[in-house]
Amino acid sequence: MRLPLIAGNWKMYKTTAEARAFAAELRQLYDQSKTDVQIAICAPFTQLAVLQEALVGSGIGVGAQNVHFAQEGAYTGEVSIPMLREIGVDYCIVGHSERRQYFGETDETVNLKLKALLQTEIVPILCVGENLAQREAGQASEVVRRQVELALSGLAPEAVSRMVIAYVPIWAIGTGKTASPQQANEMCFCVRQALIDIYDDAVADLVRIQYGGSVKPENVTEIMNMEEIDGALVGGASLIAAKFNEIVNF
Ligand code: PGA
Repeated sequence: MRLPLIAGNWKMYKTTAEARAFAAELRQLYDQSKTDVQIAICAPFTQLAVLQEALVGSGIGVGAQNVHFAQEGAYTGEVSIPMLREIGVDYCIVGHSERRQYFGETDETVNLKLKALLQTEIVPILCVGENLAQREAGQASEVVRRQVELALSGLAPEAVSRMVIAYVPIWAIGTGKTASPQQANEMCFCVRQALIDIYDDAVADLVRIQYGGSVKPENVTEIMNMEEIDGALVGGASLIAAKFNEIVNF
């Protein structure tokens, strides 16, 4: 049985004061005993320590949105895995399409980051997903499959079993256009099929596959009810504590 994970992705939103206020509000609203899902907030680096402290004992995990693959070094502006571990970060998003599009993230750097993260207890959330042109050309499955293959290249099955993969079609991010539950399910199945082909059924059965792209309180139930979907990566709707709480209590 896969325990679903619903993770908020704040992107570059919220100051420290705003993060503190959000954490206090979500703590009040969220009752861990009433949900069958794990939940987490992936926040900007400068908010991670504050969130970690404010959410201790709440059952709400904390995640980063990126990390460097090297342990340390002359990489101005970057943050390392030991730095995240020191704060007690639980998750780290890797390869979000915004990083691929604006910050030169490649399948190769994604692979290096996964390799490094999977040597620690931090759970990576690998993002894959096609753009609109690729979908319209009928290449969605092919593109996503290739992204999964390259991201996982050289990774051991035991390590991969612990990770989360988020199918986040670029055309559905912040556009209000959600993939239909059937489309999302189909693509999550395509990710699982890739895992079966690269590893085996046992590994594919353990990996949690999320859907992301305009998830909100109004559509989360339908999405979460799909067989192949084990959670959601929630951008815009994770910025308001009450909305995010509604989503995790779908
Ligand atoms: P959105 O973002 O929910 O605002 O569409 C999803 C994401 O990019 O993680």
